[in-house]
Amino acid sequence: MNLPKEVTIIEVGPRDGLQNDQNLVPTPVKIQFIQSLKDAGIKEMELTSFVSPKWVPQMQDAMEIVEAISDHTRNIVLTPNRKGVDRALEANCRAVAVFVGVSNTFNQKNINKSTEESLQELKPIIADLKDKGVFVRACISTSFYCPYEGKIEMDDVLQLCTRFAQYGVDELSVADTIGMANPKEAFQLFSTLLRHFNDTLVTAHFHDTRGMALANVLASLQAGITRFDTSAGGLGGCPFAKGATGNVATEDVVFMLNQMGIETGIHLDGVKKAVNIIRPHISKPIESKYDRLN
Ligand code: HMG
Ligand code: MG
Repeated sequence: MNLPKEVTIIEVGPRDGLQNDQNLVPTPVKIQFIQSLKDAGIKEMELTSFVSPKWVPQMQDAMEIVEAISDHTRNIVLTPNRKGVDRALEANCRAVAVFVGVSNTFNQKNINKSTEESLQELKPIIADLKDKGVFVRACISTSFYCPYEGKIEMDDVLQLCTRFAQYGVDELSVADTIGMANPKEAFQLFSTLLRHFNDTLVTAHFHDTRGMALANVLASLQAGITRFDTSAGGLGGCPFAKGATGNVATEDVVFMLNQMGIETGIHLDGVKKAVNIIRPHISKPIESKYDRLN
C-alpha cells in the first residue's frame, strides 16, 4: 500500500461545519470551539467566511471571530469577492480562500456569477493578495458531480485548477461538494492533479452524503494526497448545493490514520472536547462514527 508517514488536516468545522446550520451559534461558542480545536493540535483551519450576511447569516460575525483569534498557525478565511478580501485584509488575515465551482450552474447559485465571471474577478484579487504575501487557497467546488449539471468532466476540473495555478494560488482544495464521488473517481482525479501540479499544494475535501468519504480519503492517500479538509463532528454542507450534507469527520479521519500508523499531530480527546462544545448549539445530531463509541 502506498501510504505517507504524515498527513495534514485542515479543519473546516467552524466555517463549512456551521455555515448551513439553522441555529445561529453564539460568537463566544464559536471562539471556544476554534480554540479547543487548536488545543487538539489543529494547525490549519478555516475560521469563518466574509460573505454576504443576507446569503449566509451564520457567518455574519466573521470580523469578531477573526479579531478574537491571534496565533501564528494558518487561520484561513473564505471570501467570494473584492469586498470579502478587503474585509479580510482589514482584519490582518494572512491566509485567504477563494471559491469557485467547476459547474457554472452551481457557481451561479452560490456566488451569483458564472464560473468565468468569478475567475475574471479573482485574477487581480489573487495577484494583490500574493503581492501582500498572503497565503491563497482556491476551493474548487463540484469537482466530481454537480447537483444541477450531473457528472463533471475531469478535464474541466484540470482546466480550472490550471487557471488558479497560473494566477499563483498556493493551494488547490478540490471538493466533492455533494458527496457523490466514489474511490475510483477520487483516485483518478487526485493522481491526475498530482501529476500536473508540482508547485501547488493539492488538498482533498470530501462530504460524506453517501458514506463514501472515508473510502475516498483512503483512495486519495493511495494517489499520493497528504492534505485533507475535515470537519469536527462531521458537520457541514453548502447551503446552495442541493443535497449536500456534512464533511468527513475530523475524528474519523484522525482515528483511521492513527490506526494505520500515519501521524497527524492531532489528539482525539481534544477533538472530542471541541465536538462537545458545539454539540448543544447546533440543530443536528453529531454523526461521526467515532462519536458513537466515545
Ligand atoms: P450578490 O447579491 O450578487 O452581491 O451576492 P451584491 O454585490 O449585490 O451584494 C449583496 C449584498 O451583500 C450587499 O449588501 C453587499 O454589500 C453585501 P447591501 O447593499 O444589500 O446591504 N456583500 C457582502 N457583505 C459582506 N461580505 C462580502 C459581501 N459581498 C457583498 N464579501 C455574493 C454575491 C458573492 C456576495 C453572495 O452570493 C454570497 O455571499 N455568497 C456566498 C455563498 C457561500 O458562502 N457559500 C458557501 C461557501 S462555498 C462552500 O461551502 C463550498 C466549499 O466548502 C467546497 C465544497 O464543498 O464544494 C468551499
Ligand atoms: Mg464543503
